[in-house]
Amino acid sequence: MSIDMDAGSRKGKGKWILVCAVALVLSATGFILLYFQRDRETVPEYVFTYAENQTQDYPTTLAGLRFAQLVEERTQGRIQIQVRPEGIMGSETEVIRQMQYGGIDFARVSIAQMSDFIPEMNVLQLPYLYEDSAHMWRVLDGEIGDRFLQYPKEYGLVGLSWYDAGARSLYCSTRPIRTLEDMQGLRIRVQEAEMMSEMMNALGAVAVQIPYDQVYAALERKQVDGAENNWSSYETMQHYEVAGYYTVDEHIRIPEMQICAQHTWELLTETDREIILECARESALYERQLWTEHERAAREHALQSRVEEIYLSDAEKEKFQAAMDPIYQQYYEEFGKDIEEIFAQGTKGRE
Ligand code: GCU
Repeated sequence: MSIDMDAGSRKGKGKWILVCAVALVLSATGFILLYFQRDRETVPEYVFTYAENQTQDYPTTLAGLRFAQLVEERTQGRIQIQVRPEGIMGSETEVIRQMQYGGIDFARVSIAQMSDFIPEMNVLQLPYLYEDSAHMWRVLDGEIGDRFLQYPKEYGLVGLSWYDAGARSLYCSTRPIRTLEDMQGLRIRVQEAEMMSEMMNALGAVAVQIPYDQVYAALERKQVDGAENNWSSYETMQHYEVAGYYTVDEHIRIPEMQICAQHTWELLTETDREIILECARESALYERQLWTEHERAAREHALQSRVEEIYLSDAEKEKFQAAMDPIYQQYYEEFGKDIEEIFAQGTKGRE
């Protein structure tokens, strides 16, 4: 028997060519599949806008970005949320209005600006309502907080989660505020909300509603004598440069809410809604962590910049609190039950 060596090697060669060809086809197919798969993942089904009026490195903005990132990851890129900070989408009041018509999809807003649209929100921002931050979080993390997240629904908005904004105090450019008497006749900037004007007028000052991004100019031009806000906003917006007397009266804690436009919500499946709610809650916990440190650093920086920090005596603080009685009377009629429930979550009790 003779062996045709050439034929054998030809056969072997042929086999190799076949193997290589198959491998080539397979890898090309794999590549094409991968390409289309990747393409499908990177082309989002929805690109949503998210309005934020704080600067890029502010805790609420960073948490908004975390929210967007989580949503994108958990929907495999199907839902993209573009966070637009620094108020470029308009003032909070304008943003809320636009959201009711579906012009903006998401936002983080102070509930003060929501309260003229959604009167129930006034309950959670009554002056001197919470004993401290822990009291406020017991309320917001509990049944009351969940209930209030549902109210925006009747007004074309969906409440997603609560963000922290600390306590707000008074600051002035002309003189330190040490007593209730010092408040008389001062022109003080307040947020665009009826209750904020009522509160300031009840303290004997003249309330002037001005959007957040215009406060610095108003202080500088002496259109107002002072304003009120938390340490973080006071420092970030550089109000300390033009109003150097900061009185730690902590007259109010105003929770902030992440919201979604009802129009946008209706586009989403039940699964996507759950993902969004879950990511919003996670971003809110992140915001709370960032908040504490930011507030501390902001205060320190303001004090280094020659801000005078003033504390009210206990007797004066009581006077400030007592001045709010008419406001409680006014809101008690409609919301007495809610207010009582909130007091009951405190530790000191209240008459
Ligand atoms: C805080 C809050 C803002 C709000 C601002 C204001 O900084 O975070 O959302 O606009 O107060 O005083 O208007």
